[in-house]
Amino acid sequence: MKVCIIGGGGLVGSCAAFALQCGGVVRHIVLLDANQALAEGQALDLLHGSPSTSDQCIEAGGYEQVADADLICITAGLRRKPDESRLDLINRNTDLFISILDNMCSAGVKPSACVLVVSNPVDILTYIATRRLPLPPAQVLGLGTQLDTIRFRSLIAQRLGAAPTQVSALILGEHGDSMVPIWSSATVGGLPLEKYPGWSHQAAQEVFQRTRGSGAEVIAKKGGAGFAVGIAIRDVVHAIALDQRRVLPVSTVQEGLYDIRDVALSVPTVVGRGGVIDRLAIDLWPKELTALRKSGQVLRQTLLEVLKRVGI
Ligand code: 2OP
Repeated sequence: MKVCIIGGGGLVGSCAAFALQCGGVVRHIVLLDANQALAEGQALDLLHGSPSTSDQCIEAGGYEQVADADLICITAGLRRKPDESRLDLINRNTDLFISILDNMCSAGVKPSACVLVVSNPVDILTYIATRRLPLPPAQVLGLGTQLDTIRFRSLIAQRLGAAPTQVSALILGEHGDSMVPIWSSATVGGLPLEKYPGWSHQAAQEVFQRTRGSGAEVIAKKGGAGFAVGIAIRDVVHAIALDQRRVLPVSTVQEGLYDIRDVALSVPTVVGRGGVIDRLAIDLWPKELTALRKSGQVLRQTLLEVLKRVGI
């Protein structure tokens, strides 16, 4: 499987490439970036580790590499300035993102290719990519709340001193302020979280608030997230590459599940070869369902403002 990472010179893109290298599943990784020298430097640094990881082709390249790619991951984007509103960032990133989509279309995209949007605001940009790219909607996914979900699981595990891989808990909705913690199906080692020794309502509140603020917390401490984003990207890429049919909270344009439609957000999604295989309407508590629908409304409002500005 050939993967192109647009924005591969940056922190998120290069961490994604490193996660895919260590995962050893994809055969060919190409880093594209407006800063060609940076992409070449990242690719060279990765190549040097290849004898001790796996037999892959890792290189920097241009949009000509997109034409036969099986998966295109878009991580390129600007970060919010200290005094910049979220909507200002959306406008700047949307313009950049649309130019990337146009370059992809000019280069040509394989009819069977999948696109994974990571750039923020990921749910807005996933919707735009779905509408602008000549691909079936099932083949256009956003990283959505997969990153929030593994952060959530990691913080629950840390709080309880439990094994992170044994914590199962979902974040759904927007990859943003209106994200929704799904406590109703959370378990640790197969035991209901709410019955696990040491868990409490206070712990739940603290862990979710920290999850929700994790993006900002990491930005404040180190300038931006990279490692966990790379792992989250690897989770989705491998689900597609290996046809794993894993249930992942990725962002896609909704078609009526939970009565949410015409907006991209994260719901439990079966991901395999070809992208979206199915979406699962898992049982939610009434307050979780209300919050998920509210998240869709918040995103839809922002989306309409952006679409009006860019004329889609
Ligand atoms: C995060 O939450 C940048 O959206 C990314 O860290």
